[in-house]
Amino acid sequence: MSELPKYSLKEVARRDGKEEARVWIVIHDMVYDVTNYRHEHPGGAELIDEYAGQDATRGFDDFGHSSDAKRMLKKFLIGELVEVDKISNRKKKKEISVEMEASNGRRRFLSVLCFKCIA
Ligand code: HEM
Repeated sequence: MSELPKYSLKEVARRDGKEEARVWIVIHDMVYDVTNYRHEHPGGAELIDEYAGQDATRGFDDFGHSSDAKRMLKKFLIGELVEVDKISNRKKKKEISVEMEASNGRRRFLSVLCFKCIA
């Protein structure tokens, strides 16, 4: 089986139907080009457009689409997310950046304290 092209969330974000005419969405780390399907969607094009260029996993799962709908997804599959942007890694990245933010905050706080001692 040939490997699927890999895209970053940033590349997906550009396909939001505005900056570029195509509409891509991500569902469970897979990238779908839904440009031509939007207007056939039984839930309406607006629902898909809401997630244009973004991760639509939550919206897709929350509705509880039928197995037919899940099978349909295959027709629009164009690639998968790069490893660092996959959901599990995204969570890790977020945790790290929150941690870094906290430690930067502490550092800033300490430097303010030190400054006050010197002044
Ligand atoms: C390529 C992506 C999608 C496909 C192939 C798809 C497909 C379908 C299909 C076939 C149905 C009819 C019911 C069923 O068979 O489950 C449906 C209904 C619906 N879909 Fe999607 N869908 C997609 C994305 C989304 C997204 C991102 C949302 C986000 C909110 C969404 C929300 C809904 C809703 C609310 C309905 C119900 C419409 C109604 O009964 O009035 N769908 N979808």
